[in-house]
Amino acid sequence: MTLEQTLTDEERLAELDLDTLKQLVGLVEHDDAADPFPVTGWDAVVWAVGNATQTAHFFASAFGMELVAYAGPETGLRDHASFVLTSGAVRFVVNGGVAPDSPVIAHHARHGDGITDIALEVPDVDRCLEHARAQGATVIEEAHDVTDEHGTVRIGAIATYGETRHTLVDRSRYDGPYLPGYVARTSTLQRRPGAPKRLFQALDHVVGNVELGRMDEWVDFYRRVMGFTNMAEFIGDDIATDYSALMSKVVANGNHRVKFPLNEPAVARKKSQIDEYLEFYGGPGAQHLALATNDILLTVDRMRAEGVEFLPTPDSYYEDAELRARIGEVRVPIEELQARGILVDRDEDGYLLQIFTRPTGDRPTVFFELIERHGSLGFGKGNFKALFEAIEREQDRRGNF
Ligand SMILES: [Fe+2]
Repeated sequence: MTLEQTLTDEERLAELDLDTLKQLVGLVEHDDAADPFPVTGWDAVVWAVGNATQTAHFFASAFGMELVAYAGPETGLRDHASFVLTSGAVRFVVNGGVAPDSPVIAHHARHGDGITDIALEVPDVDRCLEHARAQGATVIEEAHDVTDEHGTVRIGAIATYGETRHTLVDRSRYDGPYLPGYVARTSTLQRRPGAPKRLFQALDHVVGNVELGRMDEWVDFYRRVMGFTNMAEFIGDDIATDYSALMSKVVANGNHRVKFPLNEPAVARKKSQIDEYLEFYGGPGAQHLALATNDILLTVDRMRAEGVEFLPTPDSYYEDAELRARIGEVRVPIEELQARGILVDRDEDGYLLQIFTRPTGDRPTVFFELIERHGSLGFGKGNFKALFEAIEREQDRRGNF
C-alpha cells in the first residue's frame, strides 16, 4: 500500500495531504501486510464528562471544533447524551449521563472528566482482536457489525490501562456522520469574524499515566499485543527537576500516526505530577492530548482570547543563552514565542514549538498540548525541565506538592 492510499477519510475531508501530515505528525511509510495488528490511525477520543452539553460547547467555542453528530434520548439512546466534534482529522466524542443509573455518571464519579476510549481505525477488526487475544489482552467487546442506512461499521474493543479502552473501528463500508445510531447535528455557534476554519488539524499523541513500576508492563503490552515499536525513552535526569521526577517511554504504531508516551512517577523529594494525576483521577488514565497545528501562534492567540489558560513560561527561559544557542533559527522571532509562552526544542531532525494548557476540567488531571513540528519527531525533551517546573508551581498552588 502506498502512503497516498493510507490517508484516512477524515484527513481527506480536512484537505490534508501527505506532505502536510509528514510535517504535522511525522507520518512514515509502513507495510500493513507484515503487521500482526495494523492500525491506520486515530478514530476518536471518547470522553466521559459531567455535562456533555456544556463540554461540547467549550470544544466548539474555545477549541474551534465543529459539532457534526449527536445521539441521545431524542435518537433512542436512553442513558446518555453524546456529542461528536471534529477539527481536521481530530474527532472527539463527548458523553454525559442522562439517566441517573448511567454508567457514564458512575465513570464520572470515579474519575471526573476524562477519556474512556482512545478509538483506533483499523483495516481488519477481527484480525486485530484475534492477535490481541492470543497475546493475552482483555477483549471487552467481540467483533461485530453495526448497521444503519449509511452502511456498516465493524467494531470491537480491548482494555488498556486503568478503565481506558481501545475500540477498534473499520468504517470502510460506512459514510454516516459518526457511527450507526448517531444523527448529523450542527451548532448555531457563529465563528468570530476572521477566525480560521480550524485551530488544529490532527492528533499527534495521547499520553497515558500509569502507576509506579507499571510503565514497562504497558510498553510491553503495546509492543506484544498491538505491534507498536519503541520511539523514545526518558529516564533519570532527562525528566527530573530538583524536587520531583517521572519516567516516560514512547511507543508508536507502524506509520507513526498513533504515538503513546507512557509515564510513571519516579521517587524524588516531592510528589511527582504523575502521582497527583493518579490520586485525583483515581488510577491510571490518559493525561494529555497533543493537538498538531500548522500555526501555533494563531492557535494560542485564538484559544487564549476564548479563555483557555496556558501554563506560563518564565522570561528566564527565553533569556537563557544556552537555550538560544541550541534552538538556533526558528520561523518567528523568539520574542513572539516569549509573548505567548511557547516553548521550543530542537534535535538532529529539526525543531518543534509546543505549549501546554492548564487542566481543562475541575480535577488536576487531563490537559492539552499544542504542537507545531518542523522536522523534529521528538516530544520536547529539552523543555521537560522548564515544563515540569511550571507544573510544580501549579501543583504547589493546589496544595499537592
Ligand atoms: Fe506531549
